[in-house]
Amino acid sequence: MATATQAFEPSVRVSATQLLINGKWVNSASGKTFPTLNPATGEVITQVSEADAVDVDRAVIAARAAFETGAWRRKMTASQRGAMLNRLADLIEKNADELAQLESLDNGKPYHVARAADLPLTIACYRYYAGWADKIQGKTIPVNGNYFCYTKHEPVGVVGQIIPWNFPLLMQAWKLGPALATGCTVVMKPAEQTPLTALRVGELIMEAGFPDGVVNILPGYGPTAGASIARHMDVDKVAFTGSTEVGHLIMRAAADTNLKRVTLELGGKSPNIVFADADMDAAIEGAHFALFFNQGQCCCAGSRLFVEEKCYDEFVERSAARAKKRTVGNPFDKNTEQGPQVDQDQFDKVMGYIEKGKSENAKLMAGGGRVGDKGYFIEPTVFADVTDNMTIAQEEIFGPVMSILKFKSVDEVAARANKSAYGLAAAVWTKDISKAHAIADSVRAGTVWVNCYDVFDAGAPFGGFKQSGIGRELGEYGLANYTEIKTVTVKL
Ligand code: NAI
Ligand code: MG
Repeated sequence: MATATQAFEPSVRVSATQLLINGKWVNSASGKTFPTLNPATGEVITQVSEADAVDVDRAVIAARAAFETGAWRRKMTASQRGAMLNRLADLIEKNADELAQLESLDNGKPYHVARAADLPLTIACYRYYAGWADKIQGKTIPVNGNYFCYTKHEPVGVVGQIIPWNFPLLMQAWKLGPALATGCTVVMKPAEQTPLTALRVGELIMEAGFPDGVVNILPGYGPTAGASIARHMDVDKVAFTGSTEVGHLIMRAAADTNLKRVTLELGGKSPNIVFADADMDAAIEGAHFALFFNQGQCCCAGSRLFVEEKCYDEFVERSAARAKKRTVGNPFDKNTEQGPQVDQDQFDKVMGYIEKGKSENAKLMAGGGRVGDKGYFIEPTVFADVTDNMTIAQEEIFGPVMSILKFKSVDEVAARANKSAYGLAAAVWTKDISKAHAIADSVRAGTVWVNCYDVFDAGAPFGGFKQSGIGRELGEYGLANYTEIKTVTVKL
């Protein structure tokens, strides 16, 4: 582990640990709790109330009441809703240091990264959707005959939102922002690994003055609380981010119950393509960032790194050297680039893929082992000479494991890039504008980055082709998931 030279002790106090239902903090009906751990030590931070079906029911009743009585979408004007979202953004900004500490403690990501990336993006997302609240409007349509025809974009209703642990605050913002701007009410389940910042934001939601029942937050496990949301007959829509496997379950639950609308943001195996004519320093650092950022726990990680034969040897050698230099350790040390994986399950899964890479004869160039003897730290790992049929080139690893593959031509790499069940993101590094556009045009992916990676903005839509998901989040496109179009035709 890197020697800790700029470490500090987190001073954050854990506050909310109960369920937020109808504007009140309550214990779960069963009285059950579950522990949330600090992944850097494996120790319990605190116990949190564990929601199950009965609690989901109560929350849905509260959200339905808030929706139907119109406390949120009728008694408040659209611009008042926007102002309230801005108030929430202001409160998150005011408490940004504390929230970043809590995020780091519960998730393991370095504090200084959470403070510099997760918090500003979270705040910007709420502000962006605050701006939309009073700009959601329909059309007038020149239909045949003597009629006046117009459309209204109405909120879809009570929305269930199930979020993952890799970017807890940011995923909460991506989900709440458009739902609240459009006038929906929400029952949200944070991931069981990282409930603490979602609950703290729940406190800020109450402080901002949101009416009771508009946002309900229920920590709990997937097969119980999560499945109850997905199966609920009075939830109009479910938005899910997580594994493709659970994405299938969510869609099936919707099909088996009330055909609730479903949006899914799932896994990926995103191709990151480096041509020999690229700015090599930028491409090497960019590919390192694309894979190792957030401990490799990104749905859009550049996890199939295709490198042109002409620069392959140099690229592999320098990428391995860069990975060996990556500092792993205490998330509260400013020099730390990489913290622990989120939990034992993820640690075991990633270590399993490293073993798989070795047994399938990929060439181990860096890392491959555990760091330290407590917490869930893994060495930044680089495999070269990876081929398309290897497991590590096909399945989502979700950890600090880089797989480098060799290619010769544009057509070849474009075809290989698309040989995946996923289609979330892709990137290309080149100084040749034709190659850049050829790749941007041919890859079947929801986002393509050219000479950059992981550039996110609340205004730019994000989501997957193929089995990476259904629907888009962020931007104006993200609003469509939360509205129903109503056509009104009036005889003149
Ligand atoms: P997961 O898909 O099980 O968890 C994501 C969320 O879904 C959590 O809130 C969880 O409680 C909930 N959930 C789990 N089972 C459910 C069910 N039957 N019904 C309703 N909700 C349910 O993912 P997990 O187990 O945390 O990670 C497994 C793999 O999934 C990771 O290794 C990674 O490959 C992928 N993943 C992808 C993410 C992304 O950003 N797209 C985020 C997290 C995980
Ligand atoms: Mg935790």
